[in-house]
Amino acid sequence: MEYLFPLLGYCIGAIPFGLVFSKLVGTDVRQAGSRNIGATNVSRVLGKKLGFLTLVCDCLKGFLPMYLVASLLPESGSREGIVLLTGIAAVIGHMFPVYLGFKGGKGVATGLGVFLYLSLPAILISLVVFAGAVALTGFVSAGSLLASALIPVWLWLVGSSPATIGAAAFIGLLIWLKHHENISRLIRGEEKSWRKK
Ligand code: G3P
Repeated sequence: MEYLFPLLGYCIGAIPFGLVFSKLVGTDVRQAGSRNIGATNVSRVLGKKLGFLTLVCDCLKGFLPMYLVASLLPESGSREGIVLLTGIAAVIGHMFPVYLGFKGGKGVATGLGVFLYLSLPAILISLVVFAGAVALTGFVSAGSLLASALIPVWLWLVGSSPATIGAAAFIGLLIWLKHHENISRLIRGEEKSWRKK
């Protein structure tokens, strides 16, 4: 039964808040900007308020399923693994949502929710790294890539378990794979600023 919790994480992670909010204001965020359903593109296409709302909702998709599962499960040898799998599944749900033909977002905000659950100090360091990279380059993708690559290091520094560090590294790898177009654009000098449509 407890092995169904990651499935719950996937179903929650797959809710495409960015697309839902864009549809509510009569547009489809997949048709503009980077065509991504994430908070960066919602902000780029529809403004900061809806972008921030998408960020918060997508972040909660990662945090809440883990919090819920950890609250429901008794202490046991498998508890940590199930909670981590639930978080990973939420990120996979956001990236490959069944509701949208498996074409989803890049997993940064949902990953943020997972990392927030894993360690507040580690995510605070990551946010500084993220903000610094975005301020220096002007590209959210550069911040996302740097922060997701380094989060396992911060988790190790704050004493997280090997399973936690492994789960964060796996999510970081997925985020990098989902940013392959951004990486190509960054290399070509054609990446889109979050301010421009
Ligand atoms: O969170 C996604 C961000 O890293 C890049 O978004 O829309 O510029 O591809 P976007």
